[in-house]
Amino acid sequence: MLARREIALFNLGDRFLATDNRCPHKGGPLCDGIVAGDSVVCPLHGWKVRLDSGMVEGPASSGACVATYPTRIEDGIVCVELPVSLFEAREREVA
Ligand code: FES
Repeated sequence: MLARREIALFNLGDRFLATDNRCPHKGGPLCDGIVAGDSVVCPLHGWKVRLDSGMVEGPASSGACVATYPTRIEDGIVCVELPVSLFEAREREVA
């Protein structure tokens, strides 16, 4: 959890992709889903989410998406780039 947001990190073998962990359907944990190619299938009701764009592929008509975050490897450590706005929102909550 970072800035009160759960991030799911997926190892696709040749790269890492990061998304919000909440499925846009009913909040299922995407980190527990089954990865198929560049997508993950939510473990609760089977919605399929692209890991690179966050777009829901199925059901086709949903138009929903999850946030995605750039990743990079530095000295063997996976770094996830989060927008500053996430931390600003957290600071407002604490103040
Ligand atoms: S909560 Fe993910 S498909 Fe329903």
